[in-house]
Amino acid sequence: HTPWPGLIEAYRDRLPIGENWKTVTLLEGGTPLVPAGHLSEITGCDVYLKVEGLNPTGSFKDRGMTMAVTDALARGQKAVLCASTGNTSASAAAYAAVAKMTCAVLVPQGKIAMGKLAQAVMHGAKIIQVEGNFDDCLELARKTTAEFPTIGLVNSVNPVRIEGQKTAAFEIVEALGKAPDIHALPVGNAGNITAYWKGYSEYHADGISSSRPRMLGVQAAGAAPLVHGAPVKDPETIATAIRIGSPASWNGAVAAKEESNGAFRAATDDEILEAYRLIARTEGVFVEPASAASVAGLLAAHKEGWLDRGQTVVCTVTGNGLKDPDTALLGMPAVQPIPVDPVAVATALELV
Ligand code: F0G
Repeated sequence: HTPWPGLIEAYRDRLPIGENWKTVTLLEGGTPLVPAGHLSEITGCDVYLKVEGLNPTGSFKDRGMTMAVTDALARGQKAVLCASTGNTSASAAAYAAVAKMTCAVLVPQGKIAMGKLAQAVMHGAKIIQVEGNFDDCLELARKTTAEFPTIGLVNSVNPVRIEGQKTAAFEIVEALGKAPDIHALPVGNAGNITAYWKGYSEYHADGISSSRPRMLGVQAAGAAPLVHGAPVKDPETIATAIRIGSPASWNGAVAAKEESNGAFRAATDDEILEAYRLIARTEGVFVEPASAASVAGLLAAHKEGWLDRGQTVVCTVTGNGLKDPDTALLGMPAVQPIPVDPVAVATALELV
């Protein structure tokens, strides 16, 4: 049994990595594909959760970031910059710290989850709050790095990010021994759906899997440009990670949907929160709200008869629930402390 070496070492022959490059890694990837018993019961399918919240900084972004920061270091860049709804900034900050590079993050003012901000702070990133949304931040990051080319742009518009993230599809095919029939995932800036489709397509082209899944891309109803077919000017959703109105990888997402005979769906905030609580209580997997969009979309698709019994379904749950404790505790009533007394415990449990 050899320990997991991180995804660059695991998939080096499928990644654009120079032989003598110094790899910047936190041993990301190799995440579990957890069978989801309750979701399987509801849908009549074999449903699995690809638990990306178990990456080093708690989201799938680490797959792209090990590549992006390794690449930036090889190019001799001294600083990296990203726009972020939170997870990209946490990941960029951690990998830049390891690489001893400066990291600056542009985040939409007041719209990023507490845990993500805490991560960027702890890893020593320069945090710049912008009076605007993610789309404004990304435009600003693109313009800045175009004008100052010594700063590396580590958003998923950087193609090496997509290369790193495609490895999640490889892992799924290896774990199942085949490609799933359906793959559901949340879609914001649309880099990840583009990356999964690339990964599935590469394994299919090389005969490692005999099929590719139908891709189900799920957006929040208030931030669903791909569902509407046009950018959304003022995106709004409780799932702040995917509060994005103008996805950069628009074409990649549309290609994934069309080539896979897949679909885009919108999930309302209520549906997202319901799925968020459901998988925490029934599957034992605590994800952040945006991640639960994949499950919300799957359940809605099931109700509409989009799934066939017995199909193999994978939902990517993209980020760890611990990143956003505020949403988890939303509406929780204040509880009275009890005396140090077993009877009081039993009373509180409503057992006596
Ligand atoms: N889920 C989570 C938890 C995310 O943080 C993101 C994107 C997505 C899903 C959507 O992935 O953008 O590739 O379609 N977060 C980015 C960020 C925008 O800045 O952390 P996508």
